[in-house]
Amino acid sequence: MTGSNKVIAVYGATGNQGRALALSLLKSKQGFKVRAITRNPGSEKAQELASLGAEVVKADGWNEADMKAALAGVWGFWLNTHHHDPVVHVPGGPTDEDLGRKLVDISADAGVKVFIYSTCESPTEFSGGKTPVPGMDAKHRVELYARERKEFDSVIGAFPGWYFENFITPEYTKAFGGFPMFPDEEGIYTFTTPLVGGEGRVQTISVADDFGEMLHGMFLDPMRFKNQTIQCLGDAFTYEELVKEFTKVSGKPARYVPMESYEVMPTYGSTVLVELQQIYHWTQWNGGLFFGRPDDFDTCHNLKTEARKDKGLEPEPLTDLHKYFTEHFGQK
Ligand SMILES: NC(=O)c1ccc[n+]([C@@H]2O[C@H](COP(=O)([O-])OP(=O)(O)OC[C@H]3O[C@@H](n4cnc5c(N)ncnc54)[C@H](OP(=O)(O)O)[C@@H]3O)[C@@H](O)[C@H]2O)c1
Repeated sequence: MTGSNKVIAVYGATGNQGRALALSLLKSKQGFKVRAITRNPGSEKAQELASLGAEVVKADGWNEADMKAALAGVWGFWLNTHHHDPVVHVPGGPTDEDLGRKLVDISADAGVKVFIYSTCESPTEFSGGKTPVPGMDAKHRVELYARERKEFDSVIGAFPGWYFENFITPEYTKAFGGFPMFPDEEGIYTFTTPLVGGEGRVQTISVADDFGEMLHGMFLDPMRFKNQTIQCLGDAFTYEELVKEFTKVSGKPARYVPMESYEVMPTYGSTVLVELQQIYHWTQWNGGLFFGRPDDFDTCHNLKTEARKDKGLEPEPLTDLHKYFTEHFGQK
């Protein structure tokens, strides 16, 4: 199959990660055909992708017949299941891992050749069981399971860091004191979290600006990354640097107030926040390294550059804190 007739199916094409990939692939000069999978083809985001040339296909990941049809004739498959979807947290019900394994099987049986999965490393494995993060451990197991399916020519795990987008999402910002969206009662934009550990740098990525292009880069050269887990980040900075940068670009007062320990972080019954507690425990144990390993910016930048080349665009640096915050919070 040449680039011009390769079909790439994008699961979660209307979500943060999938949409970023679909938008980048739609500008590829290879002529990839983008098949956008959604449960609701009539949504604004699905319609936007259709207007840009994607084939929008209605399918529910839990429906085997839907997924078989959606994956027919597909060369490359991007899979990102949302492990905080309430349906995978019903006691006794199917889990995110069950869904991931099922979709691995359906895609392998359908003849998919390149399987790229939104993954995590396993904190349990790294720490010898001392700092489990069950949601991350489960994604890691799905990636390993996919590598066992010999029908795939290449299986790649793409492991995104903390989203820059969380800083423009009210639910996230409210969980950490309101910074950088809502001032506290003293008029200060206060960020309060447990400490990351080690040098205190938090590995962060702009999904919209960088992650989609990194994934596009993986689809351009899948054999090069076969059986690898690629950490995806654009910058890493401390929380002190974060609040200082906000004040610098916005002119507004901000401060970082560390929590005494990860255990005192309020979770309000949210599975996302419970997992974040576990993640702080993990990164504190692992010297601040969320990915398990030291940061690798070169691979990220090379992947982005290859994707941009494929779109006829000049290379660009990865999106860093200064760029992201200037764009979203800078004084106009
Ligand atoms: N926030 C962070 O800092 C961070 C960092 C790393 C990883 N993550 C992980 O990223 C994942 C979330 O990804 P995201 O941000 O791209 O999510 P998102 O924006 O909420 O998008 C989820 C997508 O999944 C699709 N979807 C949901 N259920 C489906 C089903 N049953 N069948 C088919 N499609 C379905 C939705 O499509 P339709 O509604 O159109 O069907 C939607 O496009 C989570 O596992 C999260 O933990 C987050």
